Amino acid sequence: MTIIYMDNNATTRVAPEVFEALTPFLTEEYYNPSSMYDPAHGPAEAITAARKTIAKLLGKARPDEILFTSCATESNNTAIFGAIAANQERRHIVITGVEHPAIFAVGEELQRRGFEIDFIPVDTDGQLDRVEFVHALRNDTLLVSVMHANNETGVIYPVEELSRITKETDPSIIFHTDATQTVGKLPIDLRNSFQHVDLLSFSGHKLHAPKGIGALYIRRGTRCRPFLLGGHQEDGRRAGTENVAFIVALAKALELAVERHDEDEPRVRAMRDRLESEFEAKIPYLEVNGKNAARLSNTLNVACHFIEGEGILFQLSAHGICASSGSACTSGSLEPSHVLRAMHIPFSAIHGSVRFSLSRYNTDAEVDKVIEVFPGIVDSLRRLSPYWDTKKNEPRPEAMEMLTQSEMPSA
Ligand SMILES: Cc1ncc(COP(=O)(O)O)c(C=O)c1O
Repeated sequence: MTIIYMDNNATTRVAPEVFEALTPFLTEEYYNPSSMYDPAHGPAEAITAARKTIAKLLGKARPDEILFTSCATESNNTAIFGAIAANQERRHIVITGVEHPAIFAVGEELQRRGFEIDFIPVDTDGQLDRVEFVHALRNDTLLVSVMHANNETGVIYPVEELSRITKETDPSIIFHTDATQTVGKLPIDLRNSFQHVDLLSFSGHKLHAPKGIGALYIRRGTRCRPFLLGGHQEDGRRAGTENVAFIVALAKALELAVERHDEDEPRVRAMRDRLESEFEAKIPYLEVNGKNAARLSNTLNVACHFIEGEGILFQLSAHGICASSGSACTSGSLEPSHVLRAMHIPFSAIHGSVRFSLSRYNTDAEVDKVIEVFPGIVDSLRRLSPYWDTKKNEPRPEAMEMLTQSEMPSA
């Protein structure tokens, strides 16, 4: 069966150009870049070149401000735990209620350790409450972390403005952003629009590099202690032998994303928009999560009232279509996603949310196929739903009440 892959916010396929760039560092130039002999100079120089490329493409950052890690989760943990370790006099942290678990779970853990954490709420479109944000900043705030775009809904957060407000309130508050879903997709200029951002995390596998490589931008002068202790790699800031091949891959992937952006972005946006408008036209009781917010052009998260996301995914998968559900978290729990809950998505829809996330490798023919198949899947699942009147092919009257309730009605 042909696979139609529309789960690019989860991971992406490695670009052929990236694969070609990385393989020599697995086969011929496999030496440890810290070794003294001549052949090891190639890998060491490749790391230097990759660091320079990435720094330049993020708005002429300094190469020594780029720290290579294993993934965005590590970058996020390094940013937060590193900032805490270096600034022990402050114990208040501000994050949003819609962060990825790689920040959200850290926030919850810090709460258990006695830190004060403010989780800033969002509205029904997933947009951050600016008033609450401003009120949350205090004279003992250590760090603020606001993601650049949400992985589930694609909603984009005004990091430029929020980092400026933070620094105007107190220049010593450290501002971190999780830019895992935006590096390579949205412009990031650490010398201009992002000049107030101190720490920025991202990951290779979201932009057509392999899994297992990430980076953390650390603005010069930011107080952030190393997270992994051991050898002297990365200038003593992250111990562990460098993943040379994947570091080369990350630089190549970012270079490609930037080079191809003006061609890829409108094409991906057009495919996403077509999916969105066709679903809206063909499927009753469907809502686009984050509809009125600025969103990533590759992401579409739809809430299908009265059915379960898992059922939809199972049926999509039977057609070779890979998408993902916002309703079950990665641990396999049946709890709806904290992101959709934070947005007060109606109870009847929160379990039936499905995310389609596209990339440059998707085609119009694939979009046609998904448009052909998806409405039928939703219809067939609704016919099995206790909330659906199969004879009339509409929701039962009591189910209509749930359309506006964000909590499960009591029995
Ligand atoms: C916004 C965001 N942050 C962090 C991560 C974690 O990335 P990684 O798998 O590289 O640890 C993801 C992955 O989905 C993400 O979307």
